Amino acid sequence: MATIVKGSGFAAAAQGGYTTGGTKEDPYKYQTGFGNRFASEALPGVLPQGQNTPQKLKYDLYSECINGSTFTSPRAQNQLTWMYRIQPSIAHKGYTEVAFDKDALVADFSLTNPNINVPPPQLVWEPLEIPSSGKVDFISGLKTYCGAGDPMSGEGLAIHMYSANASMDKRAFVNVDGDFLIVPQQGRLDVQTELGKLMVKPGELLVVQRGLKFKINLPDGVGRGYVEEIFGARWELPELGALGANGLASPRDFESPTAYFEVDQSSWEVIYKNLGKLFVCKQDHTPFDVVGWHGNYVPYKYDMKKFIHVNSVTRDHMDPSLYTVLTAKSRTPGTPLADFCVLSERWDVTTNTFRPPFYHRNSAIEAIGMIYGSAKAPNFPISPGGFYYQSSLVPHGPDWEQFKNATEMELTPMKLFEDEMLILFEAPKSLVMSNFAMNTNTRNGFDMTPFTMQPQFLNHIDSITRELGSVGISGANGNVHV
Ligand SMILES: [Fe+2]
Repeated sequence: MATIVKGSGFAAAAQGGYTTGGTKEDPYKYQTGFGNRFASEALPGVLPQGQNTPQKLKYDLYSECINGSTFTSPRAQNQLTWMYRIQPSIAHKGYTEVAFDKDALVADFSLTNPNINVPPPQLVWEPLEIPSSGKVDFISGLKTYCGAGDPMSGEGLAIHMYSANASMDKRAFVNVDGDFLIVPQQGRLDVQTELGKLMVKPGELLVVQRGLKFKINLPDGVGRGYVEEIFGARWELPELGALGANGLASPRDFESPTAYFEVDQSSWEVIYKNLGKLFVCKQDHTPFDVVGWHGNYVPYKYDMKKFIHVNSVTRDHMDPSLYTVLTAKSRTPGTPLADFCVLSERWDVTTNTFRPPFYHRNSAIEAIGMIYGSAKAPNFPISPGGFYYQSSLVPHGPDWEQFKNATEMELTPMKLFEDEMLILFEAPKSLVMSNFAMNTNTRNGFDMTPFTMQPQFLNHIDSITRELGSVGISGANGNVHV
């Protein structure tokens, strides 16, 4: 049976709560704040007062609770949402395992898994191609590139890309393994979740927590982007330390959906990803039938153009941690599991400074995607939709031409990343690669590219020999070999 009634989150907005949204590009309304406890009703009065499970609910709805944390988690980390829905999630026809490409969807990144690869330390991919034939939706178009750990151990991460040409229609997805941070690069994502709808455009990010059902439609016909999945942790805002209470991503700029339900008694599939395997549940009603909900286990989106940059206004290049939008804790105190950063338009006004990133070898891995822009310098070899990965402690920095220019340029205030946005995935340890990542035709062989610098010191060898001689040290003693 087709959809016969649609409820709308606009009903909740009409009751006086502050909401954002409602534009031509994005018709949905959002509640604002990071980590808040929200409440939303698509029909007035469906949320019970003073208790969560009265004997009988308005309109004979079912109450259902989803816990995103263990019962005894400290109060500050306890996350749950109560849903009031037409049918409980248990109403389905059983689980059936689904075959999938194990080279292209990976959850076990242990070195004992024969389907993973230890890569050369620097790799580059051209943009994943948009499928030109067949019907490929977000689920079937999801390709794992690299990762660490696994969902069973409860610590780790995976970086995927998706490329799709079809909406999910009557298919929903549940990732039991980890939280998804989804960053579209091409095409908006019209995301329907149990708790309401979000429209996510390139330049925005979306977080859908583990266990929550969602589906993605493609209002622009195609979709491509990046996904970072974290196992055993939650995305959090970074501490601000000496910055004070403001700056970077503001909590009030995170947007969560308002309740939206459909009455739809037609055939649906719900695909579960659990410990790296896929299972399907068929059911004869929509999973998106939540009429009201309250809680703090809620998807959210964030427009990265709102990121408030902080940087040096005197001298020296600062660390990219200043661009952290979201971070996730590892079990090692003081060490993140993953940092998610944005590189976007800002000013550089530093004086007497070598302005590009200095030559460095960081313990953190760097993986980079480009949302939009045109930069394709030799040491920064990706285009929009491409992907760059480098392992822990790999040397990198500007190439010879950039170095030369940076040491001789006039240091006037300049815009960086104008009309460009890049995203940076950082993690404390090297990642391993999927077979898909190593073998896809979009890998461009950058790992074999030689990198040559000029030892300008040698241009001064006569002066240096003279200077050493003036203090009684002879080049013949072995201090200077030319
Ligand atoms: Fe770096």
